[in-house]
Amino acid sequence: MAKTIFSGIQPSGTLHIGNYLGAIKQWVDLQRDNQAYFCIVDLHAITVPYDNEHLSDHVLNAAATYLAASIDPDHATIFVQSHVPAHTELAWLLSCVTPLGELKRMTQFKEKSERQKGEVTLGLFAYPVLQAADILLYQTDIVPVGEDQVQHIELARDIARRFHNRFEKEEEESILTIPKPQINKNTARIMSLSNPTKKMSKSDEPKSHIALTDEPSIIKKKIMSAVTETEPVFSFTHSGPAVRNLLTIYQGFSEEEPAAIEDKFTGCGYQEFKEALAKLLIEKLTPIQKKYKDKRQPEDLKIILAEGKAKAEQVANQTLIQVKQKMGLL
Ligand code: AQP
Repeated sequence: MAKTIFSGIQPSGTLHIGNYLGAIKQWVDLQRDNQAYFCIVDLHAITVPYDNEHLSDHVLNAAATYLAASIDPDHATIFVQSHVPAHTELAWLLSCVTPLGELKRMTQFKEKSERQKGEVTLGLFAYPVLQAADILLYQTDIVPVGEDQVQHIELARDIARRFHNRFEKEEEESILTIPKPQINKNTARIMSLSNPTKKMSKSDEPKSHIALTDEPSIIKKKIMSAVTETEPVFSFTHSGPAVRNLLTIYQGFSEEEPAAIEDKFTGCGYQEFKEALAKLLIEKLTPIQKKYKDKRQPEDLKIILAEGKAKAEQVANQTLIQVKQKMGLL
């Protein structure tokens, strides 16, 4: 049976292969037989210091990347979070059923606030409640994400249950569907190329990640300088974290079985393996990059995003009205 799918990416920089393998690649498979909403979550991107002069460019870049990666506006609703005010309104309502203690446990808040140089904002702390609102507005069944987001989805589930317990009759079906995270277990957490103990991130140094728009020469340079272990062992279980990460990237793009990949590279040196990986990435990313150039037309993108907003708003506003009624607002 068709399910409702919701997921999003922050326009906080150029999308990378971690975003692609962890999230977007699953979206492409899920969009056909389901009701899919793919959002550009700009209100999340402003919870940390950001460049306001380039934010709208990043939003259009993200929209063009979705299209280039084969998200199809005929199958999926593509829209910008801030264009649908119901997201922020529901976030406020849900913040009134979210215990402070739950938010204090969020590991991403701890990591991001430690990394941050200036003041940590209320927005960064409240981010998971806005994310819960994003998801719960659409009666979402499945949230395809990378592993780093699982704790936030658990919180969204918890908030939906609290809402039901507080404002709905026990036997009544809730107006807020309890969502489930969906993780591609092979590529749930792609690590940094320069420090394999850290997740690959847009906001980290450029050599740590491969942007989906990196030129072939840059891809090759970044892969050739990726950290490795001392001994060239190619095993998904026995190699150290740096090589396991490179093998995982190889698997994510080649879709070959782990055993076949291990066999292919046993006895090779790192240079040979890295050359093969760079070649594979260039082969897989070049068509996406060509399509990206074609799709990065601001006026065309704005039409797609306006259509997405209209479709999203129909569902989101309906949920918001019902939530307000249940909460007793006039
Ligand atoms: N390294 C990763 N491996 C697998 N999946 C990943 N995702 C992000 N990084 C990896 C998944 O991509 C989706 C969008 O993430 P996001 O951009 O909204 O937020 P993020 O997780 O904070 O991503 P970044 O790149 O680390 O951004 P910055 O540097 O701005 O904080 C999510 O489904 C996420 O799981």
